[in-house]
Amino acid sequence: MNMNIVLVPGDGIGPDIVREAVRVLDRIAEIYGHDIAFREIDAGGISIDKHGVPLTEDALAVAAASDAVLLGAVGGPKWDHVPGSLRPEKALLGLRSGLGLFCNLRPAVIYPELSSASPLKPSVIADGVDLLVVRELTGGIYFGEKGRNPDGSAFDVMRYSVDEIRRIARKAFEAARLRRHHVTLVDKANVLETSRLWRETVSDLAKNYSDVELDYMYVDNASMQLVRDPKHFDVLLTENMFGDILSDEASMITGSIGMLASASLRNDSFGMYEPIHGSAPDIAGKDIANPIATILSAAMMLRYSFALENEAKAIEDAVSSALRDGVRTKDIALSGDEWVGTAGCGDEIIRRIK
Ligand code: IPM
Ligand code: MG
Repeated sequence: MNMNIVLVPGDGIGPDIVREAVRVLDRIAEIYGHDIAFREIDAGGISIDKHGVPLTEDALAVAAASDAVLLGAVGGPKWDHVPGSLRPEKALLGLRSGLGLFCNLRPAVIYPELSSASPLKPSVIADGVDLLVVRELTGGIYFGEKGRNPDGSAFDVMRYSVDEIRRIARKAFEAARLRRHHVTLVDKANVLETSRLWRETVSDLAKNYSDVELDYMYVDNASMQLVRDPKHFDVLLTENMFGDILSDEASMITGSIGMLASASLRNDSFGMYEPIHGSAPDIAGKDIANPIATILSAAMMLRYSFALENEAKAIEDAVSSALRDGVRTKDIALSGDEWVGTAGCGDEIIRRIK
C-alpha cells in the first residue's frame, strides 16, 4: 500500500519521539511491503519562531492533502508570553478544526506490567482499567464565540447542534460494539442546556444500538467514579471541554501517561494521531523521553486510516513484548531499575516486530 503521511514533530520532545515512530513505520513497511512517503510540517512554537504564526495555511494544506498525520507535541514555556491567538496550542486547534477532526479517541489502559505505577490502590484496579474516552473535538466552548465586553467582563459560548452531537455519539456506539457494549454519556444536564440537548439526542440515537447499554453521569460525579471505580467505564462519551479534563484524569490513573496514544478522526479514513502527553521541554533532545505513546499512535494510524490491522497489531505486540522483557524508559522505571533512552527503546521495539 502507498501511504502519504505528514509528520508534525512540533516542540520539546516532539522530534525525539516522532523520530522513533518513523523508524518503527519504516520497519513495518519493509516487512509487510508497503511504501510510505513522509513529509514534515512545522506547527506550534517552532512555527511561531520560523513563520510568526503557530500554523501556516501552507502547512494546513499539506496536512489536508495527506492520508494521515502523526503529531508529536506542541508548546512550551518559551512561548508563554505570546498573545492568546498566537499560542502554540492554536496549531492543534487549527489542525483539528481545519481538518474536520470531530472525533477524538483516547484509550486509557493499565498495562499489567506497569500496574504498580498507578496511583490507585491495587484493590481498586484489581480487575484492570480499560476505557475509551470519546471526546467531541471541534465544537462546544472551545470553538464558540469568545471575547471581552466593554465593561471588562469576558465570555466563551458553549454551543452544540443536534448534528454535531449525533455524529460523535454514533462513533461512541460503534466503538462500544467493538468493546464491552457500554456507553456512559458524561454531561452536566442538571445545569447546562447544551447537556440537556446531548441527553435527548443521544438517548434518541441509542434506539439504533439496542445491543449497547447507555447510562448517564454528571461530569462531577464521573470525575469521582473514575478514581473510585474505574472499571465501571467502557466508553465514556462527552463534549469537548469535559473530555479534555476527564481524559487527563483517566490517563493519570493508568500511571503510564508516556504510553497512551490517541486518534482524531472524521467520517472518512483520514486521521491525526498523537500521544496524549505533552512536549516536556525539560527533557527535550536528551534521549530520555518515552517514545511508546507515539509508536502506539502510529499503530492506531495503521488501524484506523489504512485498515492494516495485522501491522497495527504487530507494533502493539512488539511493545507488549518489550515491556514483558523489562524494557523501561526512565518515566516507567522503578527506582533502581535499569532504563533505556528514547532511541534504545525504539531499537528494542523494532527488533521485536514480526
Ligand atoms: C489536549 C490539550 C489541548 C486541548 C490544548 C493543548 C489546546 O490539552 O489535547 O487535551 O485542550 O484540547
Ligand atoms: Mg488536554
